[in-house]
Amino acid sequence: ASKSPRHFLSISELSPTELSTLVNNATAYKHSALQPTWPQRNALSNKTIALLFSKLSTRTRVSTEGAVVAMGGHPMFLGKNDIQLGVNESLYDTSVVISSMVSGIVARVGPHADIANLAKDSSVPVINALCDTYHPMQIVADFATLTQAFGTPAEKLNGLKIAWVGDANNVLFDMCIGARKLGIEMAVATPKGYEIPAKIKDEVDAAGRGTIFETNTPEEAIKGANIVVTDTWISMGQESEKQKRLQAFAGYQVTEELAKRGGAAEDWKFMHCLPRHQEEVSDEVFYGPRSLVFPEAQNRLWSAISTIEAFVVNRGEIRPPK
Ligand code: CP
Ligand code: NVA
Repeated sequence: ASKSPRHFLSISELSPTELSTLVNNATAYKHSALQPTWPQRNALSNKTIALLFSKLSTRTRVSTEGAVVAMGGHPMFLGKNDIQLGVNESLYDTSVVISSMVSGIVARVGPHADIANLAKDSSVPVINALCDTYHPMQIVADFATLTQAFGTPAEKLNGLKIAWVGDANNVLFDMCIGARKLGIEMAVATPKGYEIPAKIKDEVDAAGRGTIFETNTPEEAIKGANIVVTDTWISMGQESEKQKRLQAFAGYQVTEELAKRGGAAEDWKFMHCLPRHQEEVSDEVFYGPRSLVFPEAQNRLWSAISTIEAFVVNRGEIRPPK
């Protein structure tokens, strides 16, 4: 049997240099990947990449399909009406069968165990397109957004402070792990009862240098922040908790006033992976001059190209463009 492929399920699997390279490649591809002279434009020619999505998606679907096309491949989208992972057929059978016919799998699932099991039995690389615990391609895009906004390569982002104000979720977990790897200072404000779970905290602490400050007071996290980030308070799969969550997160909306009260850096920037709901951020911030949300969303395309190139085309060898 051939050597099992390298998968990409979380930022935690990357060395700091690999993370910086994926991020810097994403930023480089913004200027090169859609040019006719791009050397990788046929890298996936005659190859199929399966996109298994058991949850809704706008950015991740559009960016991964676009990334496969940019490299000359065929993205095969399989939504929850085509395949219900582990429901109409076991995860094992699904993984063995699909991976016998494609060159890579990009999967969006519920529980992390589902993608871990899919990867365990797959003969081709599996890339996590979001699960309940991680969202690695989002973090590659987010850090690429920072390199572009602050005009510095990923390995020099360590002078920045990020404040996360909101729910402790998949996006935050991979962001904390990535911040640790790059030495970015991070402060996290979540309501009482919605903190980072201990198991994830241990994983974050094991990820490297840098610090994560945790609080239940948004103003404390925001102090001196160059970037304020949030996400929905109700992730996919948590819809039944909506009322309870809206109450628990009262006072957590990111606004100009909150940032001012907290003492954010004067030129602070705002980020959000989207989709956005009104409760977590005011229109003034979301559509205002501080907001990086639309370049951040477009960076999902460059992040997907960088990631699929590294894990599918280059079989897990993460290197700068030739
Ligand atoms: N940010 C993000 O992953 O968006 P989608 O859920 O639309 O893919
Ligand atoms: N935390 C959100 C992110 C969506 C991109 C969710 O899991 O639904």
